[in-house]
Amino acid sequence: MAEELKINATTKEEKYKELYPQIKALVSDETDLIANLANICAALKFGMNLFWVGFYLVKNEELVLGPFQGPVACTRIKKGKGVCGTAWQQNKTIIVDDVNEFPGHIACSMLSKSEIVIPINDTNNAVIAVLDIDSDEYSGFDKTDEEWLGKILQLIKLN
Ligand code: SME
Repeated sequence: MAEELKINATTKEEKYKELYPQIKALVSDETDLIANLANICAALKFGMNLFWVGFYLVKNEELVLGPFQGPVACTRIKKGKGVCGTAWQQNKTIIVDDVNEFPGHIACSMLSKSEIVIPINDTNNAVIAVLDIDSDEYSGFDKTDEEWLGKILQLIKLN
């Protein structure tokens, strides 16, 4: 596909509908995991106009910063720490409407107000990475994001 996104929709649901096939086209012919994670970050950041989008990869019992788009971020997160470490520990998606209300939230940027973190599992259901998306508005994420981001993550080939 042409390396350019086209999003005309205005509602979140419609934007995801337009973005999804474009991300699918971007990653379908590429087998390199990091290349695909990097393009997914860029597509989500600019397609959905988000504040921060990134992946943390599980390495030696820590989450280590991977491909991302947005301001610089903390590089390592321990299991159970912050929203990312909690989503990893519990192996479940976490949506936080107000990061100030989440005990132990790791504030990489004071501008971050809400977030969604979705674990990525290997075939044994072990968490190998998390997708972390931050908004500079409160309550930036809901079930629509969880559903579409889940579909997008299904496109990633885990070699
Ligand atoms: N918000 C995360 C830390 C990572 S930054 O937001 C990029 C957390 O508390 O897990």
